[in-house]
Amino acid sequence: MSSSLHILVTGGAGFIGSFIVDALVEKGHRVRVFDCLDPQVHGERDGKAPEYLSRDAEFVLGDVRDVEALDKAMDGIDVVFHEAAAVGVAQSMYAIRAYTEANTMGTANLLELIVNKHRDHVRRMIVASSMSIYGEGRYVDPATNQFVVPAQRTTRQLDSGDWEPRIQGTDRPAQPAPCDEMKPLEPTSIYAINKRDQEEMFLSVGRAYGIPAVALRYFNVYGSRQALSNPYTGVGAIFSSCYLNGRAPRVFEDGLQTRDFIHVTDIARANVLALERSEADYEAINVGTGRPTSVLGLAKMLLAKLHPDRVEDPELQPKIVGRFRAGDIRHCYGDISKARRLMGFEPAVRLEDGIAELIEWVRKQEAKDLSDQALKELSQRRLV
Ligand SMILES: NC(=O)c1ccc[n+]([C@@H]2O[C@H](COP(=O)([O-])OP(=O)(O)OC[C@H]3O[C@@H](n4cnc5c(N)ncnc54)[C@H](O)[C@@H]3O)[C@@H](O)[C@H]2O)c1
Repeated sequence: MSSSLHILVTGGAGFIGSFIVDALVEKGHRVRVFDCLDPQVHGERDGKAPEYLSRDAEFVLGDVRDVEALDKAMDGIDVVFHEAAAVGVAQSMYAIRAYTEANTMGTANLLELIVNKHRDHVRRMIVASSMSIYGEGRYVDPATNQFVVPAQRTTRQLDSGDWEPRIQGTDRPAQPAPCDEMKPLEPTSIYAINKRDQEEMFLSVGRAYGIPAVALRYFNVYGSRQALSNPYTGVGAIFSSCYLNGRAPRVFEDGLQTRDFIHVTDIARANVLALERSEADYEAINVGTGRPTSVLGLAKMLLAKLHPDRVEDPELQPKIVGRFRAGDIRHCYGDISKARRLMGFEPAVRLEDGIAELIEWVRKQEAKDLSDQALKELSQRRLV
């Protein structure tokens, strides 16, 4: 690839997109951002890009559902990073049509324009996929050390506070293992189904037309710029905004469910590698740290950083509510050997350091805690 490219980042005004923009600008590329500034993410901004967006990038206000606007934004573009999406897993379970229109149909619009109108100049395309497409992560049977597909957790099991997935036909809990890209996909939400669609659409269109395509399966991304006001996004941002409002965050199940938390600057670096390394062509690749952290553990780390003098304060102890959300999985963390092998990717930010960066930013924000409202909406729909 030539040294300076003209690159479109859809969703480039968002949390992850804006860091990808920074990383691309730093590499000397010309970057155009295409983003509708979704009010749930950005608040009411009157079409003005967020302050954190690089001044070296061109900002175009537009919606991926608007084919004409997208067509104009594709003018002269060499490479597309597709980050635009509606991102709330729980919300996607009742705003089914809106999610599918923005995510799946938005991707259809983009790909159709690329192959029918911009084929002569588009040389590479990279899509934000997600660990959510796996459903439950990988598990092994501790007795045999073989991979197993545990039994789906039933409502009855969860109602009794029995959280761990069991080995089929037994009472034995399955043991979580790093989840590699060969794990069969079992998306458990409309959002995850949309992300699987986006990934498969990019890879299949890319292969058919010989346009190198890469799908990066991000694990749980955290860091500055994540919307604190959006009650449907990252757990790090949600917990932080609770603590900032002097309240204890609510933790579903028993809090010991695990995720793979990766700092947003590592995600941005993986995207640059996906641009530069042809070994990644036509591949779906995990981007995580390879390390599991419990949700409760994360809440406690955030409390210690935000209110070091109140770590024992009963008012701020994470509330283990014992409730569960439809479609939630128990454990999923990444096997990142493919990213290492194909792209030379290595996560660089330790969770402690990444959290310090998140906190520094959170302190400067005015965080409205809307998690009660979000929980009410889910409860009304019996999704909790
Ligand atoms: N945050 C995570 O943990 C995570 C994990 C896996 C995958 N992802 C994916 O990464 C991408 C970025 O997510 P994020 O966490 O930065 O979320 P975000 O909400 O901060 O960013 C998404 C951006 O897309 C824009 N957008 C939404 N709908 C649009 C539309 N119809 N047209 C144009 N722009 C639109 C929003 O205004 C926002 O700026 C998404 O594709 C998401 O599915 C995120």
